[in-house]
Amino acid sequence: MEILRRVTNIIDPIYVLEGAGVRLRRSIATQTLDYLDPFLLFDHFGSDDPNDYLAGFPMHPHRGIETVTYMLDGQVDHKDSMGNSGTIEKGDIQWMTSGSGILHEEMPKEPEEGIMEGFQLWVNLPAKLKMTTPRYRGITSSKIPEVKDDNSVTVRIVAGDYEGVKGAISEIYADPEYLDVNIPAGSSFEQHIKRGHTAFAYIFEGDGIFGDFELESFKKGTHIQATRMAIFDDGDSVRAYADQNPVRFLLVSGKPLNEPIARYGPFVMNTTDEIEQALRDLQNDNFVK
Ligand code: FE2
Repeated sequence: MEILRRVTNIIDPIYVLEGAGVRLRRSIATQTLDYLDPFLLFDHFGSDDPNDYLAGFPMHPHRGIETVTYMLDGQVDHKDSMGNSGTIEKGDIQWMTSGSGILHEEMPKEPEEGIMEGFQLWVNLPAKLKMTTPRYRGITSSKIPEVKDDNSVTVRIVAGDYEGVKGAISEIYADPEYLDVNIPAGSSFEQHIKRGHTAFAYIFEGDGIFGDFELESFKKGTHIQATRMAIFDDGDSVRAYADQNPVRFLLVSGKPLNEPIARYGPFVMNTTDEIEQALRDLQNDNFVK
């Protein structure tokens, strides 16, 4: 029997200052939720006040993780120790495998109009790939598949697949699925998610109903308003319904690694010895292999 995943936890993001003073909303990597295996961090950046983000993220290191940045609006200039540089634009994805070590810089620009908004997700790497060769991919908005179904539900497929359409990113080691889902009022959405995979929804516009409910009696579901993260228990699929208002959310799932973690800022390894090694490598100018 197909089991709908229930909402087990609702997270209110907290405001934190990161980088050189960027104000953002964090839902994973907080005291409430330190780690949601395989996801190490989830940040929602965005503001209509450039003072909240112009300081940006000057050159900093990463080791042992993959990061996925998805821009909703605005522009971020980036460059890294592999010689990549460019601008991440509205709707684009940047996907970076730090592996053994990468140094990079992410600097939001002041928009000519509108706001700057987006998300950064950190996905853990398994022990055997912590020191893999770094890799960088930039995917422009037009290359991200978008599906509009019969109920006018629009889904942008960042990673994974939806209704047989494959996402823009496919080689992240934790096999994540990452969908940007837009449901108009009165419509519903359902997505199969592999058993045993961790799953969350990040509701960032409107409000919707999530969990184990029949569409005829949707009020029995869990009603969640933006801006919050819903964490699901295990099962076969996630169901969502938009009642009076449309709802927009990211639906993210991935395979847990079940490995010990040792984290120190931008380094996430399995042991404290490996963290100390990362710090030594950085000091000795031996970080970028
Ligand atoms: Fe970074």
